[in-house]
Amino acid sequence: MFITFEGIDFCGKSTQVELLKNYFEKKGKTVKVIREPGGTEISEKIRDILLDKKNNKMFMETELLLFSASRAQLVREKINPFIEEGAIVISDRFHDSSTAYQGYGRGLPIDSVLNVHKLAIGNTIPDITFIIDIPVSIAVKRKAEKTHQELDRIEVSSNDFYEKVRNGYLSIAKEENRFRVVDGTKSIEEIHNIIINYIEEFEQR
Ligand code: ADP
Ligand code: TYD
Repeated sequence: MFITFEGIDFCGKSTQVELLKNYFEKKGKTVKVIREPGGTEISEKIRDILLDKKNNKMFMETELLLFSASRAQLVREKINPFIEEGAIVISDRFHDSSTAYQGYGRGLPIDSVLNVHKLAIGNTIPDITFIIDIPVSIAVKRKAEKTHQELDRIEVSSNDFYEKVRNGYLSIAKEENRFRVVDGTKSIEEIHNIIINYIEEFEQR
């Protein structure tokens, strides 16, 4: 099984990824957790370029291709072999992040973004994608707890950008059955239970 988590920055993805990993491990399953961008030696180097605030001259096309290059490596080096070994793979962000951030957020044509995905990920499409949805105002409150130094090149983006990204996620959620939008304003425990219930339902199909 390949499960991905999506949503705007500070929506609570990493918190839920960790809880889900523990849940599967308690059941004796082999779980591999991956983060995007990154996850392989080459992908981590690309991550550094992408998130470095000094790279403020980066064009959106370059940004899409770098995220996709990092992902192309991760899919072939880690995700596909893990799935073949029978592990449950959980990824904190995947190709939908590029659709939402570079497509809907930056404004690249969505069909071009989807074409790049075809090359980068091929048939490695997640079985389930949880979109943890929070209003931008809540993300802003959570972001305020961080210092500017702790924020990366993308996290310093405007609220207007984040509104577009959030709306992008809500639009793509309607397009494929693998999406499950979860209300991220609920408590950490409540969200975890919604996720577990959905996975149990999925496993019984
Ligand atoms: P992301 O990985 O999406 O950026 P995190 O899991 O790191 O988000 O969470 C961002 C911040 O919000 C953290 O301080 C975390 O403790 C907090 N948080 C996560 N989930 C919730 C929740 N459901 N309610 C309130 N705060 C939360
Ligand atoms: P990440 O370090 O996962 O941030 P967080 O832990 O807050 O989710 O992701 C780095 C940033 O990169 C984040 O702001 C989202 C952005 N991003 C894109 O713009 N496009 C992408 O394809 C991916 C994977 C991430």
